[in-house]
Amino acid sequence: MKYTDYKYKATKVPIKNITNYFKDLNLNTNNFITADIGAFGGYTSYQMLEEITPKMHYIVDSYEFYDKWTHLKNFGEWKNVGGKLTNNDFNNVYLYTKSIFNKYNNVTIVKSYAEDFLKKFDDESFDFIFSGINVEPKLLCDIMRIVYKKIKRNGYISGYPYKSSSTYHESIKDLLGFKDVKKVSKVKGNIFLLKKEDIDDSY
Ligand SMILES: C[S@@+](CC[C@H](N)C(=O)[O-])C[C@H]1O[C@@H](n2cnc3c(N)ncnc32)[C@H](O)[C@@H]1O
Repeated sequence: MKYTDYKYKATKVPIKNITNYFKDLNLNTNNFITADIGAFGGYTSYQMLEEITPKMHYIVDSYEFYDKWTHLKNFGEWKNVGGKLTNNDFNNVYLYTKSIFNKYNNVTIVKSYAEDFLKKFDDESFDFIFSGINVEPKLLCDIMRIVYKKIKRNGYISGYPYKSSSTYHESIKDLLGFKDVKKVSKVKGNIFLLKKEDIDDSY
């Protein structure tokens, strides 16, 4: 299957900027536990899995209409995803996503709000979480704080879009308020990468 055959592409996320960065660092991504939250048809995951093979990858989306999207009326490309789809449309996206990723043994599709999904894991369980969640900034901050808790030390947090809308700006600012979070400035484009660093508490 070629990318052009992919039916439910919501956005063109430059996820390769991140997988290339991981490759440059020689990270052992085969041992990674990763998640794509707000994944829609999982197109970003699809591209990521062309580049790296994590031990386990979760594709998570509520796959239902969410009333927190009412502010999205003017959200450009996202309005097609959040504003117009019925629950029946979302169910078709869910079924399509399951069929696409059926062949991957290391992928689990989860129909859930990301907050509920993440809370089932111990803190510091994930190496990399990418978010495409499109909710209002205050709620996004709350969700990204849960993401922060669930990321391992030396793990990474990413999201889209970074430059073309203000959605993620508040939550990035919020996360950078934690003393162990640093922005990876080498990763450019309409995507951001934050690293949760190891902190030496021994003195
Ligand atoms: C713009 S789309 C994501 C596009 C996707 N990343 C891609 O590359 O094609 C936003 C998605 O976030 C999902 N979403 C919004 N709030 C969510 C939440 N709290 N938990 C899980 N998914 C959520 C929506 O159902 C929608 O499918």
